[in-house]
Amino acid sequence: MNNSWNKVIYKAWAPIYDTIFNAGSFSKAREKLFKDIHFQPGEKVLFVGVGTGADIDRLPYEQLEITAIDYSEDMLQKAKDKYRNSRITFLQMDAQQLDFTDGAFDYVVGSLILSVVPDNRKAFGEMVRVCRKDGLVLIFDKFAEPGKGLSIAKKAIRHVIKLLGTDIGVSFEEICQAKKENIRLISDEGVMFGNMYRRILLKKLSKT
Ligand SMILES: C[S@@+](CC[C@H](N)C(=O)[O-])C[C@H]1O[C@@H](n2cnc3c(N)ncnc32)[C@H](O)[C@@H]1O
Repeated sequence: MNNSWNKVIYKAWAPIYDTIFNAGSFSKAREKLFKDIHFQPGEKVLFVGVGTGADIDRLPYEQLEITAIDYSEDMLQKAKDKYRNSRITFLQMDAQQLDFTDGAFDYVVGSLILSVVPDNRKAFGEMVRVCRKDGLVLIFDKFAEPGKGLSIAKKAIRHVIKLLGTDIGVSFEEICQAKKENIRLISDEGVMFGNMYRRILLKKLSKT
């Protein structure tokens, strides 16, 4: 994965993205994302790689202080158009280098971004960094099954799927290894296609 190609491919995806990735099974999975999170008015939420903003209306966004970043202007524009009358701050930014201070947010949400961004360990490190101590990091993404290699079929199509802007062979366990001391796993559950797409909720333990 690389940022230049992601720009090209997500420009192409932008007009049709929601008809596939915010419909059917995806929509049902997204409905579960914020189910046990009790947001308080005024809390700060960061969406990393917000795309077209598919998750935003699944939480009480009008009562929250929401910031949403994405690298693709085209995807971001879709989200901006959808939430034109809201107070949401949309910024073009690289998830691997977030321009926010440590602990700036109560919640950090990363849906379908760790399987897309070129350096997912760096992006995850940034997500943890900008989350405050005792804040929550919520991940929704497809990951390789822990402890198992990819099937021959998945290995065969992995490179083609990468060209479409995502990687089916990413291990969440490897991504979070370096941040193990800073986070505690609260829950990890399969929410779509068995355990392929997971909803992972983490608590930040330290200040940095
Ligand atoms: C599969 S889409 C997910 C969008 C949205 N989060 C969702 O759940 O529908 C991946 C998004 O990551 C964005 N992206 C790719 N590379 C990025 C980077 N380096 N920094 C920030 N966003 C990036 C793409 O532009 C795209 O909008």
